[in-house]
Amino acid sequence: MGIRIKGSGRYVPEKILTNDDLERMVDTSDEWIVSRTGIRERHLAAEGETTSDMAAKAAQKALENAGITADALDLILVSTVTPDHIFPSTAALVQRKIGAPKCPCFDQEAACSGLLYAFNTAYGLMASPLGYKRVLVIGAEKMSSLVDWTDRSTCVLFGDAAAAFVLENDGNPETKDFYVAGEIGADGEWADILCVPAGGSACPASHRSVDEKLHFLKMGGPKTFHMAVLAMTNACRAVLAKSGVSKDDIAWAVPHQANRRIIDAVAERLDMHDKVYLNVDRYGNTSSASIGICLDELNQSGRLKQGDLVLAASFGAGLTWASMLIRW
Ligand code: COA
Repeated sequence: MGIRIKGSGRYVPEKILTNDDLERMVDTSDEWIVSRTGIRERHLAAEGETTSDMAAKAAQKALENAGITADALDLILVSTVTPDHIFPSTAALVQRKIGAPKCPCFDQEAACSGLLYAFNTAYGLMASPLGYKRVLVIGAEKMSSLVDWTDRSTCVLFGDAAAAFVLENDGNPETKDFYVAGEIGADGEWADILCVPAGGSACPASHRSVDEKLHFLKMGGPKTFHMAVLAMTNACRAVLAKSGVSKDDIAWAVPHQANRRIIDAVAERLDMHDKVYLNVDRYGNTSSASIGICLDELNQSGRLKQGDLVLAASFGAGLTWASMLIRW
């Protein structure tokens, strides 16, 4: 079909919160955080800076990198668990901010697996009778808005960021698609181990919901860890089997950057340590943005060459998981 990743971009807010800063906020230590998670610092959105602000900045960079303007877009798809509002969609706000008149837009939510889910959705829509030619796919998160900054078991883990990609169908049957193989999955039986209890229809905002801190993220850490290793390993194996590609032919393995120990455990099971791209030390877990930030860093620094095969994998609340073999 000729569907390629034509451009990428990222936006990371300026403000950095280090482990030392966190030591002054909760009962924790740099040693505990680094040894349990590999995280050294994370970036936080400025006061008043929203998910759509970050998404629009990443989008502008992706458009520049692709060499197109926003009016050429046929669709905008934003993956986020931290939308500016319940509605309108964050994608609609991005459309207004980047000036992409009339193109359809919507948000998609699969938590930290969201960006890979969104790539699957975009690719499917481009290959469908709708025949979109240029699609902007964004993963953007203001996780700091969901974090209870008094809960040491979660506040050390997350950060804010956005990453964006322009997909383009050049209509040339000779061009190989970026999408080689994919696997997405979910198991709602585990919905409760990672959730934000209030703010939706199950528990609308009330004095009680605020008093009981139910608008903040709650997580069963050890169980999530265990499920993450299983889900990402199995999803990667499934994609390698579907594609018939040997792991030796993979240029980069790009896992969701939630925790260095989860990444190491998956890499060990797949025997792919030497291919793994890591930046969790600098950003923490930026949910939907995480894999996108990695891909853009690799792209902008020239470490991704056209035709390189990249194996990306993620997991998140739902529980959801996804893996994708990308031809750059
Ligand atoms: N600083 C110091 N101590 C902390 C702490 C912190 N920031 N957070 C928790 N602790 C304490 C706990 O209270 C517990 O103390 P206790 O033994 O006295 O009760 C102890 O450290 C061990 O806690 P535990 O939860 O068993 O640690 P862990 O080794 O499982 O590591 C996580 C905790 C959160 C780092 C780990 O479970 C994890 O990464 N889980 C997956 C999280 C994730 O990826 N979520 C996003 C999914 S997309």
